[in-house]
Formats: sequence, structure tokens, C-alpha cells
Amino acid sequence: MENKIIKVPNHLAVIMDGNGRWAKKRNKNRVYGHTKGIIAVRKIVEESVRLEIKYLTLYAFSTENWNRPEKEITILMQLLLKSLKNEFKKFIKNKIKLNVIGNISLLPKSVKEELSHVLKKTSENNQLVLTLALSYSGREEIQSAMKKICAKVKNNIIPIEKIDQSTINEHLYTENLPDVDLLIRTSGEKRISNFLLWQIAYAELYFSEVLWPDFNEKNLHEAILNYQKRERRFGKTSDQMLK
Ligand code: IPE
Ligand code: IPE
Ligand code: MG
Repeated sequence: MENKIIKVPNHLAVIMDGNGRWAKKRNKNRVYGHTKGIIAVRKIVEESVRLEIKYLTLYAFSTENWNRPEKEITILMQLLLKSLKNEFKKFIKNKIKLNVIGNISLLPKSVKEELSHVLKKTSENNQLVLTLALSYSGREEIQSAMKKICAKVKNNIIPIEKIDQSTINEHLYTENLPDVDLLIRTSGEKRISNFLLWQIAYAELYFSEVLWPDFNEKNLHEAILNYQKRERRFGKTSDQMLK
């Protein structure tokens, strides 16, 4: 690597896309792509630990993905369960704290049980917060936050005039996470697909042509180096940022 990684994003979010197309290119079924996708997940998690990224959020399964063929969903859930079991030791070794966002109640019981086990056992870890977005929809998250806030207003717990942006933050699934700094989407698609709508308000977006199973440490470095060259102005002028 020519350039050194100096300042990494505090919160990196990734839309891991392209498993199906990766498999299709090899005349294999989509499941083969998902299996290979897990190897890429492992690489990126380990490299994030090495780079001392503090928050990594991975879009693994969207609410809309429930509309896929039942067979694919079943296998995705089996792969998820197997990965949670396989990776557990590494979470402990690397001090990774697992976190989950999404409508978890819809997941199979076996997955829910394993998740709750891993969440509990890693809750004290502090090297990296690894958040998995599972059965996740950004709009649904905002809807659910609204319901929680309305219930508190109704029960006189929050006065209406006290509702501000931090109130909304605190009622999202991501209540304990900072805003996203860098959002990467692989596979050449240039859309957000209902991911972290509120939290990416000022994120830098990076679209890679690489299909997720091929995405590796080098591709991650390229994305971060690209991010480092950008000037995040947050509405101010370039001159103001120099002061
Ligand atoms: C991303 O890859 C993984 C999930 C959405 C679960 P896809 O399965 O969407 O792969 P493509 O987009 O069909 O290539
Ligand atoms: C988004 O990818 C969801 C995940 C990566 C888990 P999709 O492949 O489902 O998104 P669309 O349907 O192409 O927008
Ligand atoms: Mg896709």
C-alpha cells in the first residue's frame, strides 16, 4: 500500500451486495455466493479490528429480503446461525462486541437464541462494536421510533416540546451508535436500499464495482484512502474548515 491509513472512519457501514451475481458468473447457485460472502465478512471484520475502526455495521438481511424464494431464505438463516457459532471464539479473542439492529422477532427461534447468547457473552467487549442489520428496514426503524416516542408523550414521560433530534436518536435501533462516517456499497449498485436512512445524513458514500465475495482488505483500504481525501464540510465553506 502506497498511502498510509492515517485516520479511519469511526463508524463504517457496508451494504454487502453481489453474492448472487458472483455465483451466477461461475454457473453456480446463489447459495454458493452467500457461502463465499461469509469469508469476505470475516476478512473485513478482522481488518477493521486491525485498523482500529470502532464501529462496523453490516447490512446482512433486509426486511425486503423476506420476499426472496423460501429456499434461499432458509439457507441464509442456516448460514447465519453457523457463522455465529463459528465466529464466537474470534469475537472473544478480538474483543468484539456484537450488536443487532432490525425486527429480530421475525428471525427463526434458533437464530434468536444464538444471537442472544453471543450478545450477552460479548457485551463487555470494547475493541469493535460489530452491528449486524438483520431483518432491517430504515423506514421501519423510524416508524418504530415514532411509536415509542408517541407512547411516551401519551403517558406524560416526554413533553412534546422536548422532542429533539437526540430524542429520535435514542429511540432508533441504533440508539448506542454514532452517525455513520463512511458507507460502502459493493457490486456497482448505486442505491441505499432502505439502510440506515437517518444515520447516513452526513456519511461519505463509496460505491465499489467489486462483488461482495471478492471484496478484500485491499478494497477496504482503497475505500478508506478515498474517504480520507474528502473534505467533510457539514455545510460550512472550505475556508472555514481550514481554520
Ligand atoms: C447480498 O447479495 C446478500 C443479501 C442480500 C443477503 P445478493 O444476494 O443481493 O446478490 P445479488 O445482488 O443478487 O448479486
Ligand atoms: C440490500 O441488498 C440488502 C443487503 C445487502 C442485505 P439487495 O440486493 O437486497 O438490494 P436491492 O434489492 O438490489 O436494492
Ligand atoms: Mg443484491
